[in-house]
Amino acid sequence: MASSIGSAPAKIILFGEHAVVYGRPAIAVPVNKLSASVEITANPELNPGVVHLIAPDIHLKSDLHDLSSDHPLRAAIQVFMAYADIKVLPACTIKISSTIPVASGMGSGAAVTVALLRSLAGFLNAAIPEKILSELTFEVEKIYHGTPSGIDNTVITYNMPVYFVKGEAPQTFGVAQPIHIVIGDTGIASSTAAAVGDVRKGWLTDPPRFESMFDAIGEISRAARRAIEDGHIQQLGKLMNDNQAVLQDLGVSSPELNTLIDAARFAGALGAKLSGGGRGGNMIALVNASKIDDVCGELHAAGAHQTFSTIVK
Ligand code: PMV
Repeated sequence: MASSIGSAPAKIILFGEHAVVYGRPAIAVPVNKLSASVEITANPELNPGVVHLIAPDIHLKSDLHDLSSDHPLRAAIQVFMAYADIKVLPACTIKISSTIPVASGMGSGAAVTVALLRSLAGFLNAAIPEKILSELTFEVEKIYHGTPSGIDNTVITYNMPVYFVKGEAPQTFGVAQPIHIVIGDTGIASSTAAAVGDVRKGWLTDPPRFESMFDAIGEISRAARRAIEDGHIQQLGKLMNDNQAVLQDLGVSSPELNTLIDAARFAGALGAKLSGGGRGGNMIALVNASKIDDVCGELHAAGAHQTFSTIVK
């Protein structure tokens, strides 16, 4: 194909981050307002194997072979070539763009990988089933995260609400009443791998304490799924606050996140918590539709870099 486009949405974790790495359930949903997109255009005048990469959002302009071998973009192309048994790519330009905040718990890395793999599949006329797409993305996620649970690649590939348990087939669930979520960005880039690594250190130091926190989060995720399926929105808000309390005990919140979470609650959110790896990145607030503007306004006043709203339905 002379050119091909692939795309993938952002995601937020509603419940269960960090504990999901230790086998407890978590709930994540796609955010289709934000997305990554990859366009591949053939350059038939150039020799096979000459691949230009352009990613204006991260100021990247490079030939594929000049990227380090563990660069996630190079890794994504390599896992695809291995899967499709392709030795040399036709000469092409790969243009990557994304509206997803980077290093902020919204899955920008996984979304770029899924979009890139989809675009490569289209460009090379190679069918790639969703299950394989998710698995290949998981391989690349290991470079970003170290020990990822697999939740990001799953929710972003399948683009549906996911109840996720590591190592199990993803389940989806019914949403009895639309759920309005406001997302507040601290503007602080944060490494998921570092946060996950620190939790691991704590767990190795005091396994019983960390196991009981993971158990508490697992119970919250289970109860949250029931609340979503039954349309118990007030209860869901309380569960978000409960989840945040345990995440604070785990040491993955931050003063900036706490400020935004307090601001959202003050403005009438039914519940609020950090979302993703924590330490920076984004927080989410569950709101009644009538409160979206109030909560966004209060978040900006409290220092949010940007806000978004999304509906889970
Ligand atoms: O990519 P993030 O920042 O949304 O974090 C993913 C959630 C964690 O549970 C912290 C890590 C994982 O792999 O599940």
